[in-house]
This record gives sequence, C-alpha cells and structure tokens, in this order.
Amino acid sequence: MGEPQTPVGPSGQAPVLSSSLMSDEAAAHKPRVFSGVQPTGNLHLGTYLGALRQWVDHQDERDNVFCVVDLHALTVPEEIDPADLTAKSREVAALYFAAGLNPETNIVFIQSHVRAHAELTWLLNCLTPLGWLYRMTQFKSKSDGRESVSTGLLDYPVLQAADILLYDTELVPVGEDQVQHIELTRDIATRYNQLFGDVFKLPKATVPKMGARVMGFDDPEVKMSKSIARERDRHAVHLLDPESRIKKTVMGAVTDSGQEVRFDHASPGVRNLLGIYQSLTGRPMEAIETEFEGQGYGTLKKTVLEAIMETVRPIQERYRTYADDPAQLDAVLARGAERAEAIAEPVLARAKAAVGVGR
Ligand code: TYM
Repeated sequence: MGEPQTPVGPSGQAPVLSSSLMSDEAAAHKPRVFSGVQPTGNLHLGTYLGALRQWVDHQDERDNVFCVVDLHALTVPEEIDPADLTAKSREVAALYFAAGLNPETNIVFIQSHVRAHAELTWLLNCLTPLGWLYRMTQFKSKSDGRESVSTGLLDYPVLQAADILLYDTELVPVGEDQVQHIELTRDIATRYNQLFGDVFKLPKATVPKMGARVMGFDDPEVKMSKSIARERDRHAVHLLDPESRIKKTVMGAVTDSGQEVRFDHASPGVRNLLGIYQSLTGRPMEAIETEFEGQGYGTLKKTVLEAIMETVRPIQERYRTYADDPAQLDAVLARGAERAEAIAEPVLARAKAAVGVGR
C-alpha cells in the first residue's frame, strides 16, 4: 500500500530526503533497516499495522535485517516456557514471510543465533547510566506491581540498542511505543562515540502515519498488547485467529451510545475502529466519513471486520505453507543468521577495538 511514514528523531527531526531531491548516488543507496518482534504471545493487528506492514511495503527500497528477538523474551523468567518459546520464535519468523517479506532479499534470523547481540550488550551496559533505564516508560509499566523484577527487564532497551547498532542501522520501523527505545539507542551510541571515537551510526525511528498505535478492542484506552491479550479474549485480533473469533472481537468492540460515525467527535472506541479501517484501506478520513454517513456502528464494525479479513486471510494461507515445511523455514533462518553475522561481527570488532578489548 506504500503508506507514508514519519521519520522520528530525538529532537531536530531531520527529514528523510524525498527521492526527487537525491543525487543518483544517494538514490542508489538503500538505507539499512533493522527491526524485530518479541516472540511472546501471538502477533496481533497492532504489530502488523505498526511494524510488519511498513517492513513489507518498503522492502524493495531498503536493505533489510529483521530479527525475532527471542533473548528479549527471557526478561520475565516466570513466563518462560522453553519449548513454547522455541516454537513461537519460528512461528513469528514464518509470519514475517507470510505477511509478505521476501525470504530471498531480506535477512531474517533469530536473535539468539547471532552471539554478537549479547556481547555488544555488555559493552553498551558499561556506559549506560542506570537513570536512563529507569526512565523508560515500558520498564515502568512492565515492572509495575511485580514483586521481583529481573535485571534483564531493566536492561532490555540496551539489548535492543545492541540489536540496532550492530548493523549500522539507519532506519528502525516500529510502532509508537518503541520510539523512546530508539531515542535511547541514539543516546547510547552518541555517548560511545564521544568516549571512544566514531564507532556507531545513529539510527532513526520511522513510525507509520496510520496504525502507529492500535488500541484494544475491549478497552480503547489502552494499547493493543500481547500481554493483555493473553488474559482477555476480546482484546486483540491475532493474525492467526480463526474468522469466528475475529468476528466476535470486532463485533464486540467497545464503542459508545452515540450514532454518528465521525472521527472528530467520536469516542476512543469508534476512533480506534476508524483508525484501523483507515490504516487497512489507506483511504482519507473524509472519504471514510462519507462512506458511513447515515450508517450506525453496526455497519462500521461489519465493514472493519471485512477489511481485517481481507488482510488476514492471505497471511493465514501463506503461513500454512511455511508451517507445513519446517525444514525449509529452518534453512532460511540458518542462512539469515549467517548473513546477519557477516554484518554484525565486523561492527562488534570495531566496538571492542575502540575500548581496548578483543584480539
Ligand atoms: P514488540 O514485540 O512489543 O512489538 C513489535 C512491533 O509492533 C509494534 N506494536 C504496535 N504498533 C501499533 N499498535 C500497537 N498496539 C502495537 N503493539 C506493538 C511495536 O511498536 C514494535 O514495532 N522491543 C521491541 C522489539 C525489539 C526491537 C529491537 C524493535 C527488540 N529489538 C530492535 C526494533 C529494533 C518490542 O518489544 O516489540
């Protein structure tokens, strides 16, 4: 669908040049992209609209590295089920391809298969002030109410910074909730560069104009999330849900007692449905409002449901072909890890040499 994207920087927000302004050489340069999804829970519509779809839509213009970040899934030890984690990592990778990533042109791998991620994390840990990590909103919400919190949960964004910096990444396509982590990555890289020389490239987050923050169907005041969806049936639409379940979730979405389908005056639930519809169809909001003029929320929900099914059905069909051929999937992931390692190792060596460690 080629949805427009917003490059986000920490402060000055240098815009990405439009292709008409680029020299031939710059136009030929494909920016390096890195992004990933944590294999906890099932991938939902938020993950798809916030992240996966922008990966797929822009795959040909970019030099892509996509990862299933299984080491990040270890940060809440009470929730680790080893066999399930291995299976989920492969499921998420298969969903990347089912969503449309080309396995030939994109590097796709599982994070723990490339050791450099853990190793660079240590180097970055040693110069990341604790205060920077305590400020992370995701840490605050994930640690809230827990009796015991692992060091890994606090350190999570440093591992994420290592993921990104290892590939000389320029763009990190993510949903809105991850922008703070990308800004932290820039801060860590800047500090490393100031202390030890010009080691790391500074990456920028890109968030989609639409779908950067999809809210829960059962509670449109909170972001759709894998952890909430584990506890509440009607919270999220998952990419692998059967149609009957998706129907229950969408038709049961929280709206309000009003009648008119208008974005500006709508309650959070109606805005969420309209936002999802806009994101799925790529149509302007005025055209959508005209489409629903004089119609009630029932029609809105049915139409959103159809749009979701149109997106999800082909993903489910393609997913089956990957799930049915595990050997093929493993081969693609093994090749992905090799290609990732070939990029990551020299960057790690550069980072180690700069601080005076390594051979
Ligand atoms: P994770 O697994 O929570 O989410 C994966 C991606 O989906 C986006 N997303 C959403 N976008 C819109 N609306 C939602 N409701 C929604 N829920 C999730 C997220 O913003 C994300 O882009 N820390 C990361 C994984 C990670 C990573 C990285 C990402 C590890 N290393 C390096 C980029 C680069 C995470 O937990 O994402």
